Order: sequence, then structure tokens, then C-alpha cells
Amino acid sequence: MAGFVRLAGPAVVAMLSIAAASASPAPSAHAPASPSSASAARGAEIYEAKCGACHSLDQNRIGPKHRGVFGRKAGAVPDFPYTAALKKSGIVWNAKTLDTWLQSPVKMVPGTAMGFQLRSAQERADVIAYLKQQSGK
Ligand code: HEC
Repeated sequence: MAGFVRLAGPAVVAMLSIAAASASPAPSAHAPASPSSASAARGAEIYEAKCGACHSLDQNRIGPKHRGVFGRKAGAVPDFPYTAALKKSGIVWNAKTLDTWLQSPVKMVPGTAMGFQLRSAQERADVIAYLKQQSGK
């Protein structure tokens, strides 16, 4: 009997960890990652690596500067030459609209000049957390 308990111990632990693993939400390409799992620190690195070729926080490049973008209307940086499509889109940037935008800008705003997609829901959540933080929100 004592031998059975010794054997059963690790088996029970293994079963519990399988249950715990399957209980965690599976990553999905479409569902927005929950904001509680977003990291502005990771977002800063993703921003540098994936947005930095076209954007910076404080200078217009190929795309408009981003500081303050969270909570702002689309197309609102005064000295950036936006497309008419984005300017008249009426979008206000928040966690939801930014998530839709980053999945596919051209689908959300046909005619926009941003042809870049961030396919990972986790990366979108992290970048959005970073933009929010850098906008003082
Ligand atoms: C290949 C260049 C390019 C890359 C890479 C890129 N963007 Fe853009 N982005 C643009 C351009 C160009 C615009 C302006 C679009 C327009 O006027 O239609 C823009 C516009 C935006 C806007 C709207 C800003 C405003 O003031 O309304 C947001 C938000 C944005 N980009 C976020 C991002 C993020 C976050 C990333 C990285 C995950 C990224 N972009 C990567 C080119 C790029």
C-alpha cells in the first residue's frame, strides 16, 4: 500500500499539471488578448523592432509620430500628410480600435497608406499597452 502511494504521488501531480495547462486560454489570431496579460515593456521592444522603421514617438517618419495617439482622433498630427481615407475615418484610437487597425489597416480603412499587419494578438496587446503608457493614459 505504501508502495502504491509512492507511485501515485507523481502521477497525480502530472495529471494536475495537464489539467492546468489545458485550462489556460489558447492563443487566438483574432480574439484580442486580455489587457491584463499585456506588457508595455515588451511592447516597447516590439514597437522598436516592428513599427520603428516607419514610426517614432516624437518624430514623423513614413508614418506619423505616436506620442499621445491613445485617446486621440485618427489623422490628428497637424504636420503629417495623412491619406484622406484615414483623416475622414472618424476613428478614435483606443485599445479596441488599435487592435482592429493593427490586424489589418487596409481592411479597417480602405485607402490608408499603412500596409503593415501585426498578426500576433499578444504582440498587438503589448504594443497597445506601450502606446497607451506613452500617451499618459
Ligand atoms: C511600412 C511602414 C509602416 C509600419 C511598419 C507601421 N506603420 Fe503605422 N502608419 C504608417 C503610415 C504611412 C501611416 C499613415 C496612414 C495614412 O495616412 O493613411 C500610419 C498610421 C498609423 C496609425 C494612425 C496614427 C494617427 O495619428 O492617426 C497608427 C496608430 C499606427 N500607424 C500604428 C502602427 C504600429 C503600432 C505599428 C507597428 C506595430 C505600425 N504602425 C507600423 C506606416 C507604417
